[in-house]
Amino acid sequence: MKKELGLYVHIPFCKSKCAYCNFNSYANKFSLMNDYLVCLLNEIKHYSKDYKNNYITTIYIGGGTPSTLTSGAVNTIISTIKQNYNVTKNCEISIEANPNSITYDNALEWNRCGVNRVSVGLQTTKPNLLKLLNRTHTKQDYINAINTLKSVGFTNINTDLMICLPTQKQSQIKSAINLVNKLGCTHISTYSLILEEGTPLYEKVKNNQIKPLKESKSVSMYKYTIKYLRKCGFKQYEVSNFAKNGMCCKHNVNCWNMVPYLGFGAGAHSFNGKQRYSNVCGIEDYISKINKDYVAVETSEICTNKSLFEEYVMLGLRKTNGINLSYILKNYNIDLLNTKNKEINFYIKNNYLILENNKLYATIDGFLILNKIILDLVC
Ligand SMILES: C[S@@+](CC[C@H](N)C(=O)[O-])C[C@H]1O[C@@H](n2cnc3c(N)ncnc32)[C@H](O)[C@@H]1O
Ligand code: SF4
Repeated sequence: MKKELGLYVHIPFCKSKCAYCNFNSYANKFSLMNDYLVCLLNEIKHYSKDYKNNYITTIYIGGGTPSTLTSGAVNTIISTIKQNYNVTKNCEISIEANPNSITYDNALEWNRCGVNRVSVGLQTTKPNLLKLLNRTHTKQDYINAINTLKSVGFTNINTDLMICLPTQKQSQIKSAINLVNKLGCTHISTYSLILEEGTPLYEKVKNNQIKPLKESKSVSMYKYTIKYLRKCGFKQYEVSNFAKNGMCCKHNVNCWNMVPYLGFGAGAHSFNGKQRYSNVCGIEDYISKINKDYVAVETSEICTNKSLFEEYVMLGLRKTNGINLSYILKNYNIDLLNTKNKEINFYIKNNYLILENNKLYATIDGFLILNKIILDLVC
């Protein structure tokens, strides 16, 4: 029987490093791009022999900034995948892009080679916040980028926004959402700022150069964002993800549903249903490992029943349709309603969780304390 599989391709290059970002991405390493691409294609081909019985329903080219790839590279990556794997006819093929590296030519190339979903990082429309975040584009660059994408035929476009930024106001979120909606995007991801240790923004907060948004303001901003997105027709399907007319990101939904995926490139993670592994993060290390033996795995871990159960709860409670208790009993042999009766009742009584048709899901208040709920249910 053929099994479903997702593919993730990591592009670790960025024009500059944003002040909040600790993703595996590097500025000023463009001289390694050609060697990196050769390795990426070799890695993609190398693994294909083990996955002849799988069919690929989603491909996600993420980063870093895939829109900085040289002309023809996205086409080559997708053609190589199509030549070596069973890619379904209606496979969702997404690419992440930054507003100031979307051009008519690369948008046309992506559209022609089968990319059918583009995710654009706007983060904020406010010039002072763009500056604080060290983003190198303007609001107008974003507007031009979306119009360019639409002009070559893209209809499935996501925009990433960041909320709970220092000094940010609800009215700014409202006007950003209005802009994204007016331009016709079908999906919005809104990420609450995480101050990642070691990033310039974290250091500024630590040294009292800037004040983070107060906890109470962050909570009301998150709630406001959900409410306003709903008013604009974007339905929430995960903590940070909202879509119009069912235009959810299939790749992410599949990952949250624990459909196996293979990750290619520096720092990419894979999950084949039984085992998790991840590649080395450094671009140079990745290139030298792939050149040596076509594999760049640094860590691997065999999944146990317990770790799969934990993952199911952790990923499942992020989705608005939550976790299925019968599924947990059948697949992990855990009667959660029984073993965690006290905890579940507490969260239901206090309006953090809802139990319906043997499914448990978080309310908006529940999303705000999700880490605690998950710990209580799995430990
Ligand atoms: C893979 S990243 C970047 C994609 C693309 N390079 C860009 O910058 O738009 C995907 C998204 O994660 C979010 N993100 C990254 N670091 C974050 C942080 N520290 N806190 C909250 N959101 C973050 C940003 O919204 C970003 O667009
Ligand atoms: S947020 Fe995006 S553009 Fe900025 S450094 Fe991270 S990956 Fe690169």
